[in-house]
Amino acid sequence: MNLLDLIQRTNPPKPWEEGDNIPWNEPEFSQRMLSEHLSQAHDAASRRVEIIDRQVNWIHQVVLGGKPSKILDLGCGPGLYTRRLAQLGHTCTGIDFSPASIRYARETASQNGLNINYCEGDLRQTDYGEGFDLVMLIFGEFNVFCMQDANLILAKAWGALKPTRNLLLEAHTFAAVQGIGTEPGSWSAAHSGLFSARPHLLLEESFWDDTQQASTRRYFVMDGDSGNLTRYAASYQAYSNDGYRSLLEGNGFGKIIFYPSLTGFEEEASRNLMAILAGKERKIRYQGAVVQGSRVLLIQHREHASGSSYWLLPGGGREEGESEEACVVRELSEETGLQVKVEQLLCDEPEPQGGYYQRHRTFLCTILSGTLQPGVEPEADAAARYSIAEAAWFDLRDENSWGEGIRSDRFTYPQLKQLKKVFGFEPG
Ligand SMILES: C[S@@+](CC[C@H](N)C(=O)[O-])C[C@H]1O[C@@H](n2cnc3c(N)ncnc32)[C@H](O)[C@@H]1O
Repeated sequence: MNLLDLIQRTNPPKPWEEGDNIPWNEPEFSQRMLSEHLSQAHDAASRRVEIIDRQVNWIHQVVLGGKPSKILDLGCGPGLYTRRLAQLGHTCTGIDFSPASIRYARETASQNGLNINYCEGDLRQTDYGEGFDLVMLIFGEFNVFCMQDANLILAKAWGALKPTRNLLLEAHTFAAVQGIGTEPGSWSAAHSGLFSARPHLLLEESFWDDTQQASTRRYFVMDGDSGNLTRYAASYQAYSNDGYRSLLEGNGFGKIIFYPSLTGFEEEASRNLMAILAGKERKIRYQGAVVQGSRVLLIQHREHASGSSYWLLPGGGREEGESEEACVVRELSEETGLQVKVEQLLCDEPEPQGGYYQRHRTFLCTILSGTLQPGVEPEADAAARYSIAEAAWFDLRDENSWGEGIRSDRFTYPQLKQLKKVFGFEPG
């Protein structure tokens, strides 16, 4: 490329048409980038250690409930997160296509006596493996992928997770991506820098594509000796929160929670990034309808993040090798303190989108023994999201007594209507 090519460049560029990222995977660039990752003077390529420590602590405590877990870090860079998570007892795998970062990650793991599996490869092509409790892709890199690649990565992450386990994305807000595309152009001269170890000029310009809702940043590097020009471009897809939600739901994730930052707290929020936790949906929820006279037993979940609560029939997903009936008996015992007998299947219905499950099967149960009390959620990732706050009876004949929360609940309300019908309490 020469100066004339630059002058005659096509403006505006089409997102992703002139390359999809800065050259993280070129050996020399990746070596220079490694210094940026490790620098404690700024938070450009990776964050400074005190921030990483707080974020790792949040992932360990809140996302994983302190339980030793199998973690996959996509775009792990030099392993600053995987190393810390492994030191907390987790089993970690990291994938990144930067050779210098992976080399550094492997060296530091071995110096610290940690058995971490690092794989040098492109996230779009590399096999992720399976059986993970957590897959994470952090520090905004998700937005760099065009929609097609983003869907591919989400589908691969879904396949790598155990049922109900979590994907943790740290992604850009819509405004942040738009901000990248509306920054004014700039140039600088350097004896050496990230894009070249030789004296060079760096010219940058940005574009916002309103149709594709994507930003593109172009970098022209002009070599000081030869005058040769090299062009790089990175594009970023913008998503609203609803956009992230439907992308995740479309790839089989539910129970989507938005956090203001990777430490969960508002005061930690950078204006540009947020954390999104999404659970791999289970196929079927097995639930028990304990009905006495016209009353049915419900439990109340209270979300830790939002403080919001909702009522639902007790139940959950089947464990490996468990029969449907055994699952209902176990869930009722864990969640309500009651030992029940499963009598018969009452309903088998699809779930609305956005929950953990694709269907629910509801079984009529009778109480054998036990004292009704709100139980505990034994699964760490579920316990990290909510606690069981209450267990109470609701009269199927009297919708007014259910309260507005239930009447506007798109999951529970249709199920109670169905039970009303099954038990002949629905008028007409
Ligand atoms: C902003 S850095 C964040 C690194 C690390 N997650 C952290 O926060 O310390 C983004 C990382 O994603 C990696 N990356 C970007 N695109 C990738 C791809 N297609 N395949 C593999 N790694 C990729 C880069 O090499 C880089 O290490």
